[in-house]
Amino acid sequence: MDSADPATSTPTDRPPWERMARGGGLLGPDGRLSGTVFEEMSRLAARTGAINLGQGFPDVDGPPEMLDAAAAALREGGNQYSPVAGLPRLQEAVAEHQRRFYGIELDPATGVVVTVGASEGLAASLLAFVEPGDEVVVLEPHYDLYAAVVEFAGARLVPVPLEPPHFTPDPDRLAAAFGPRTRAVVLNDPHNPTGTVLDDAVLARVAALAAEHDCVVVTDEVYEHLCYPGRHRPLAALPGAFERTLTVSSVGKTFSATGWRVGWVSGPAHLVGPVRATKAYLTHSAATPLQLGAAAALDLPDEFYAGLEADFRRRRDVLVAGLAAAGAEPFEPQGTFFVVADVGRLCERHGVGDAEALAPVLAERAGVVGVPVAALASAGHRDLYASWMRFSFGKRPEVLEEAARRLAA
Ligand SMILES: Cc1ncc(COP(=O)(O)O)c(C=O)c1O
Repeated sequence: MDSADPATSTPTDRPPWERMARGGGLLGPDGRLSGTVFEEMSRLAARTGAINLGQGFPDVDGPPEMLDAAAAALREGGNQYSPVAGLPRLQEAVAEHQRRFYGIELDPATGVVVTVGASEGLAASLLAFVEPGDEVVVLEPHYDLYAAVVEFAGARLVPVPLEPPHFTPDPDRLAAAFGPRTRAVVLNDPHNPTGTVLDDAVLARVAALAAEHDCVVVTDEVYEHLCYPGRHRPLAALPGAFERTLTVSSVGKTFSATGWRVGWVSGPAHLVGPVRATKAYLTHSAATPLQLGAAAALDLPDEFYAGLEADFRRRRDVLVAGLAAAGAEPFEPQGTFFVVADVGRLCERHGVGDAEALAPVLAERAGVVGVPVAALASAGHRDLYASWMRFSFGKRPEVLEEAARRLAA
């Protein structure tokens, strides 16, 4: 037998570099790391000079209080390792934030762990509890990191599609996704990419299913302050849900600081402890001076948060109107800074089959880049999203107005 032939050899016949991440879609057919769709679309924008509404990072700096606190910490000796769980000042600020906005009471020392972005928080939460052979339920389309981490854990992702055009989970499909092997649920709310905000009935259903199947819920709430119907409601705030829920968030979106890589996981000590133990061996700790900046940001008054929401609601309306004027059919997002739009009619107009094929055409002809939603779904469900594209309104209003003008033209 030719041990180099992946089709005929068993995994142990092959050298480790051929076995890495196999099956998870992390390697391209040429054996190289395939990279993310966001990198691909950013390259497309750079090559064509198009406005990049593909990747979701803000194009402004965060609040001055946050920047000043981090700069002062840099100058004043805050440059060595912080404790693994984070600086007490930030643990306390996170606990106070959860109390102020959601009425959740946390012990800052045992109920909060600071991580390197929400990304590390999500990874450590899943790696701490998920074992090979376990199943992890997730709503899709979804942020691509979940699938990669579940793959690293040797577990299996069980996706439940949010079906267009309303993007709410079907209760029967949701229930059917849970089984004897379900170990965790990842719930992203407000939801990237669809902009859906889950209603109380769905949250309660997920909490009940998690209790019934005795699994951990990991909530990804990085868009918690971009929630347009009003206040975001964390699943952990539902009666009885706190004890099995890890809540993940970060400074990236709320404070326009995606490059800082500061996030946090909060919850009951019996869940946060294992997350802390796991993250200790991923990165040890997050950047010390930036943790002090993050604490200053979290302490900002309610007006800051209200202003943020109003500002992003206005930006949303500009982009939604631009997409509609261009002939796309946008789904008005209730949260996040993303809007998904059915671009089927644009595909027809440009003689291409789907959103993926439309992406380079839109970049060249309209000068705007979006991300095909199907790239964020599992192979079995991609057809559902073939005509959908995601655009970010996390950019300055003048950039969005120019993008809307280009699209309409
Ligand atoms: C849903 C979701 N979760 C997590 C992240 C990553 O957050 P962070 O930059 O804090 O690691 C992102 C970033 O785009 C996201 O959209």
